[in-house]
Amino acid sequence: MAVIAAFAGSAIGLGNIWRFPYLVGENGGAAFILLYIGFTLFLSLPIFLAESAIGRSQQVNCRAAVSFLVPGRAGKWFGFLLVLTPLWVVSYYSVVGGWSLDYLIRAVSLDFVRSTPEQLSGSFERFISHPWVPVLFHLGFLGATAAVVAFGVKSGIEKFCKWSIPTLFILIVLIAVYSLTLPGAGKGVEYLLKPDFSKVTAHTFIDALGQSFFSLSLGSGIVITYSSYVKKSENLMVAGVGTALSDLSFALLAGFSIIPAVFSAGIEPGAGPTLIFDTLPFIFSNLAQHAPILSALASILFFVAIFIAALTSSISLLEVGIAYLTEDKGFRRGWACVLLFVLCGAFGTLCSLSFGPLSQARLMGLSLFDFADSAASNVFMVLGSLISVILAGWVIPRSELFRELTNGGTQHANARLFPAVRFLIRYVAPLGILALILSSLI
Ligand code: PFF
Repeated sequence: MAVIAAFAGSAIGLGNIWRFPYLVGENGGAAFILLYIGFTLFLSLPIFLAESAIGRSQQVNCRAAVSFLVPGRAGKWFGFLLVLTPLWVVSYYSVVGGWSLDYLIRAVSLDFVRSTPEQLSGSFERFISHPWVPVLFHLGFLGATAAVVAFGVKSGIEKFCKWSIPTLFILIVLIAVYSLTLPGAGKGVEYLLKPDFSKVTAHTFIDALGQSFFSLSLGSGIVITYSSYVKKSENLMVAGVGTALSDLSFALLAGFSIIPAVFSAGIEPGAGPTLIFDTLPFIFSNLAQHAPILSALASILFFVAIFIAALTSSISLLEVGIAYLTEDKGFRRGWACVLLFVLCGAFGTLCSLSFGPLSQARLMGLSLFDFADSAASNVFMVLGSLISVILAGWVIPRSELFRELTNGGTQHANARLFPAVRFLIRYVAPLGILALILSSLI
């Protein structure tokens, strides 16, 4: 359970509560969800298993693991990419984590239920474009992440995830129940359950696959790093399936928490990335006119959930770099945390300022924040996943992959599934990733 909690802690995050609902809203609802489920089970789960087999077979940080498997310069660079990606991601991820911290404080101080919808209008825009307040929250969030990681894997990460993941599930179920009982929520449920295939375009496929990678933390060295700590007696297939199912069910619960509330307020679900920060406070404020206590409670629970989910994921992102610095470079854990806090804090500050004073700065036509996000999800994570499946499917001997995924053949159900899993890792996953790269380019 602790292993699944740690993996699920990494998987369940802003990707589920912030990204998934707005992508569902932008891509026409149920059809997107079906694609997302299919991709998760048949592509992302095998990639997850490939990465965890690499991590546990090598039992070292991901840069060293890749260097063992691919000797020479190429191996070093591939390994380095897997260390760099999560550090890159945590820099801008903690900007959104900082927003969730600010919104949590506002929810607790009853700001959303006390303000009228008119007063709230534009407040998100004003907040993120402020020259230093969001930077402060970004650094606060990153500092909290570094503090948990500094305690180590057992007494920091494992302990934190063991209580926070069950708490998160309880919170999201409560919120979903509340949201589903709102007047007019039925339309939102219909939107989530009735597929409209006429809205499906090539973009829907790219978004669904990209979201599935992002959500399971693939191609970012995290699964390799966490798996290097997993005991040989643990069942990796069970851990993988458990993680994928918790991640999927949490994303669906988040969808059922947000979309029905959005429909109930008569708002269009396609607001994009601002959906939870702009639209939800407006809904809480509206509801407060009839049920102030329930609305206050729902707003607090909701932003507590986002904050915890974001934190368990950012912890996993930072741990990859910490494992590299402590194992390969001889750093003490505490100093490694300080160093990465400074580096990621600085890069994240630039991303945060791209909503305010640096809004004119452009890289390849994108703002710094959008550039960071699209480079990570469309390039780094995709390449990282491709490297992992090639290593697990074509470089690691079949017998070693078999040993890791079936505990030396002692798990009979796993042994029966192994040929199908290896086929998915060797052929289906690399082709799926190449298709994703090609369609993104087109
Ligand atoms: N999987 C997490 C989420 O969905 O929020 C966080 C995450 C981890 C995102 C690793 C991206 C990544 F490379």
